[in-house]
Amino acid sequence: MNSSSLQVEAFDLVIFGGTGDLSIRKLLPAMFHRFVDGQIDPASRIIGIARADLNDESFRSTVQDAISQASKDAKAKDIKAFLQMIHYRSLDASKDAGWEEFASFIGEQAEHIRVFYLSTSPSLFSSLCKRLGDHKLNEGKARVVLEKPIGTDLASANKINDDVAKVFHESQTYRIDHYLGKETVQNLLALRFGNALFEPLWNAGHIEHVQITVAETVGVGHRAGYYDGSGAMRDMIQNHILQLLCMLAMEPPASLEPDAVRDEKLKVLRSLKPITAAEASQNTVRGQYRAGASEGGSVPGYQDELGRASNTETFVAIKAEIANWRWAGVPFYLRTGKRLPERLSEIVVTFKEVPHSIFGQEAGTLAQNRLVLRLQPDEGVKLWLTIKNPGPGGLKLRHVPLDMSFLEAFGIRQLPDAYERLILDVVRGNPTLFMRRDEVEAAWNWADPILDAWAASGDAPKLYTAGTWGPSASVALIERDGHTWNEDNT
Ligand code: BG6
Repeated sequence: MNSSSLQVEAFDLVIFGGTGDLSIRKLLPAMFHRFVDGQIDPASRIIGIARADLNDESFRSTVQDAISQASKDAKAKDIKAFLQMIHYRSLDASKDAGWEEFASFIGEQAEHIRVFYLSTSPSLFSSLCKRLGDHKLNEGKARVVLEKPIGTDLASANKINDDVAKVFHESQTYRIDHYLGKETVQNLLALRFGNALFEPLWNAGHIEHVQITVAETVGVGHRAGYYDGSGAMRDMIQNHILQLLCMLAMEPPASLEPDAVRDEKLKVLRSLKPITAAEASQNTVRGQYRAGASEGGSVPGYQDELGRASNTETFVAIKAEIANWRWAGVPFYLRTGKRLPERLSEIVVTFKEVPHSIFGQEAGTLAQNRLVLRLQPDEGVKLWLTIKNPGPGGLKLRHVPLDMSFLEAFGIRQLPDAYERLILDVVRGNPTLFMRRDEVEAAWNWADPILDAWAASGDAPKLYTAGTWGPSASVALIERDGHTWNEDNT
């Protein structure tokens, strides 16, 4: 057992929205994996909460299916042992029934760490927290986890945060952004601050531009109800992509103390150059997929899935800038979308050209160095370098990658899911990888004027065919500046 899988103190994890998609596909399998790895004390309890009229037994059978689905090689004896920790309570945030009994069930182990994971619509956060407070479940070692999105703009985020703060202290509040739990994102810390190599070059003097792409092949499918009120800007850019940007662009924190890191991320968010209504048409692109081909077959368009007309964007590209000494003048191109040709998340840092070429034309083109951090799939790091083409025939240049796949390099089959790390961080009481309230506010502060400009323009998102890289305007957004979206083959 290595230090990362040391057992944590026994805890109660209460998942509101326990029968929901996130709980079934991610949270419960994540807990199972940590359990099998010996990190979870079997005295812990995992309690699913939803309105459905289930009991411990029927919920256990749902959990069993979820685990068999998520981990094809799960051993029956491990599943059996894990299920012993699983419980279910039916509760409704708007009704009194059951809360008293639930409170005494949790209260039976008052000294335990209690994690209340709100994997529900944010519209329920306030009433759930109030209920927890009314039953004194916020005391002692209680922690609350808020799933994104926290609101739909700054005002609604403030309302939620104010309501939560009436019950839980900020130090008890964990706003989860699962991108921060991804291996490559944490590796960004190791890469930037564990190597002397990069930091001296990590600035506008040496970096030409940065791209952050989070591309998905999936459509919105059964999530259309939630998604239509959100769109790619609120679903991905305001949180996941801005958090990646922060990790990449922040100043070196003095330590990994939670507030040391979060203070630096906050400074980046506050330094984001506002995009005015006039600039929005030039520096942002909204798209929506129409029917096309994806994942090996033909797929319907977004509005067909939704069953009605909609102006919600399923694709966004933005040219962002950070107005500070380190980054002045460096464009950060951000791009995310559903129904794109591949599932691919990466950060690409392109360095400037060498100041002077000593090579003649016959040597070939001098390409710029590029550092590619792949978040998924095949997590790893690639550094593109110029070398001499081996062999005779004169000095010919070639651009080749130093390529490290984490799985290959460490001989592992699968990296742990982000939620495995993050939920145990909550249990350990470590909020470093969670968003502080002021970060959420600063992110909305930047996103709101863009959303407002889009709404005021009345323009519909540009349609793109499912299975393509979004509207052509997204290509123009970057090519206008003389750059191209990374295609990873040159
Ligand atoms: C979620 C978004 O936060 O992140 C989804 O709500 C998106 O729309 C998902 O699909 C992407 O996460 P991952 O880990 O699959 O890249």
